[in-house]
Amino acid sequence: MEKKIILSGIQATGTLTLGNYLGALNNWVEMQDKYDCYYMIADLHTLTIRNDPEILRKNTLNLIALYIAAGLDPEKNTIFIQSHIPAHTQLSWVLNCYTYMGELNRMTQYKDKCAKHADNINSGLFTYPVLMAADILIYNADLVPVGQDQKQHLEIARDIAERFNSIYGETFKMPEPYIGKVGAKIMGLQNPTSKMSKSAEDPMDKILLSDTKEDIIKKFKKAVTDSENKVRFDVENKPGVSNLMVIYSIIKNKTIEEVEKEFEGQGYGNFKTAVAEAVIERLEPLQKRYNELLENPKELMEICNKGTEKASKKANTLLKNVYKKVGLVINE
Ligand code: TYM
Repeated sequence: MEKKIILSGIQATGTLTLGNYLGALNNWVEMQDKYDCYYMIADLHTLTIRNDPEILRKNTLNLIALYIAAGLDPEKNTIFIQSHIPAHTQLSWVLNCYTYMGELNRMTQYKDKCAKHADNINSGLFTYPVLMAADILIYNADLVPVGQDQKQHLEIARDIAERFNSIYGETFKMPEPYIGKVGAKIMGLQNPTSKMSKSAEDPMDKILLSDTKEDIIKKFKKAVTDSENKVRFDVENKPGVSNLMVIYSIIKNKTIEEVEKEFEGQGYGNFKTAVAEAVIERLEPLQKRYNELLENPKELMEICNKGTEKASKKANTLLKNVYKKVGLVINE
C-alpha cells in the first residue's frame, strides 16, 4: 500500500521557539517512518513582513539545519525551500481566483497581523492562506501536522479544494490537519493565556531553541504560576502551571495524570527545576548537532537540492493538470 503523504512547513523568521518544536517539528519526526513526508522552509511567506535580506537568507539555511538536528532524516524526508519550486506560486495564483475576499477577511491570523503591522498591511498578508493552500494541495497531502493556530488556514485550504473539485472534477485531495492531542498550543511563560510566539517582545515569555542552559533555567524559574503551589492541571484557573505540565509531559512522554502524580506534594520550585532540566536535556543534543551541521552549508544545500528535485516533479504534474482543467494552453 502506498504511504500517505504529509506536508508541512515553518516560516524562516528568526529563531524557533519551544512552541514550534513541540507543536510541529517534534511530531514531524515521529511521522517520518510511516509516511511520505514533504517538509519545506516557508521562505515566501516571510516576505509578508519586512526582513533584512541577509538575515532571511541565513535564517533559511539555519532552518534546514534545524530540521535535521531535530531528527528529520534527509534520506527519509523530502526537505526543500518553498521558493525553489515555482509551481507553488503558480498554483497560488490560480487558487486566488477561486478564493473569496470574504473568506480571507475572516482569517484571525490576518486580523492579528494587521493589528501588529498596521504600517504594512500588504496584499501578501491577505492572500497568505492561499499560498499555504497551494503548498498543501500541490502534493496531494493527506495530513498536515501543525499547531492549533494553523487550523483555520487548513480549513480554508479544504474549502478552496472542494470548490475547485466541484467545478472541475476530482483534482485535489482533501487534506486533514494533524494536530497533536497535547502541545498544539504551547503558551507564553509570562503570558500563559496567549500562545508562545517567536515575535513576543518579552524574551522571558518564550524559550528559544537556541537558548543556553542558564537562560532556560532562568526563564522557567520566572514563569508565571499561581498561589496554590500545587502541580494540578486546570487550564482555566491555573494556565501557567498547566502549560508547564504540558511541556514536561511531551518531553518526558508521560500523561498529564502521570505528571500530576510525580509531583504530588511538591511545590512549584522543584517542579519548575524539573521542567527546565527536561527541556535542557532535549535541547542540548539538538543544539550540538545544529552547530555541527552549520559548519557544512554546502551539504545542507545538497540535501535541499535533492528534495527540490523530488518535490518539483510531483508539484509540476499537479500544476499542469490544474492548468489544463481551467483552460490554459499547455506547451507539451
Ligand atoms: P509558523 O512558522 O508560524 O509556525 C510553524 C509551526 O509551529 C506551530 N506553532 C505552535 N505550536 C504550538 N504552540 C505554539 N505556541 C506554536 N507556535 C507556532 C504552528 O502551528 C506551525 O505548525 N503558515 C505557516 C507555515 C506554512 C505552512 C504551509 C504550514 C506555510 N505553508 C503549509 C503547513 C502547511 C506558519 O506561519 O507557521
